[in-house]
Amino acid sequence: MELLKQMILEKGIVLSKDVLKVDSVINHQVDPFLMQEIGKEFAARYSEENISKILTIESSGIAPGVMAGLYLNVPVIFARKRKSLTLVDDLLTASVYSFTKNETKEISVSKQYVQPEDRILIIDDFLANGQAAQGLAEIVNKTGASIAGFGIVIEKAFQTGGKLLRSQGYRVESLAKIQSLKNGTVQFIEDNLEVYNI
Ligand code: G4P
Repeated sequence: MELLKQMILEKGIVLSKDVLKVDSVINHQVDPFLMQEIGKEFAARYSEENISKILTIESSGIAPGVMAGLYLNVPVIFARKRKSLTLVDDLLTASVYSFTKNETKEISVSKQYVQPEDRILIIDDFLANGQAAQGLAEIVNKTGASIAGFGIVIEKAFQTGGKLLRSQGYRVESLAKIQSLKNGTVQFIEDNLEVYNI
C-alpha cells in the first residue's frame, strides 16, 4: 500500500535494527485519513470472505480495526489486556508472551461477542513474533467461529510472526512488509518481491 509506505518513510523513525517508531501516525497520534485508507484496503482484500466481525487488540489495533469494520460494515471487538470493571463474566482468554517486553499477559474477550457462526478477520498494527496474533486466534478457535485471515498494517518480515501464521495455513495480508531496519533505514519487501532500497 503506497500511501502507508510513504508515511513510514516520511514519519517513521528507526529506533534499532528491530524497532520502528511510528508514533506520529499509528501508535500515539493517529492519522485518520491514513487509517481510513487502511480500512478500505483491508475491506477490499477480504471483500469475498463474508466477514461477520473483526477482532483486534487494544490499543493500537483499534484504529485500523474500526476503519476496516466501517468499510466491511461489521462490528469490531477489541481484546483487552487489562482486567475491566465491567467485563468479568464468561471471558475467553489466552496468554500472550511478549519477546520484546519479556512478560506474559492474559488477554480477554467476552464470550457474548463471538458466536460459532461468525467469520472473523483479525486485525493488528504490527506483526513481530506473532504472539498477540496467536492469542487472538486461540480465542476465536475456542468459540468454534472461523478465521478468514489476518490484516496487518506493518509486518516486520525479518521476525517470525508471518512465517508462523502462514505455516499454520492462515491467510495473512500485510499492507507494508519490512525486510530490514538495518543501518537506520527501512527496506520494504515489494508485493512483486523486488527489494526496494531507500
Ligand atoms: P508479537 O505480538 O508480534 O509477538 O509482538 P511483540 O510482543 O514483539 O510486541 C509487543 C508490542 O510491541 C505490541 O504492541 C506490538 O504491536 C509492538 N511492536 C512490536 N514491534 C514493533 C515495532 O517495530 N514498532 C512499534 N511501534 N511497535 C512494535 P503493544 O505493546 O501491545 O502496544 P499497543 O498496541 O498498546 O500500542
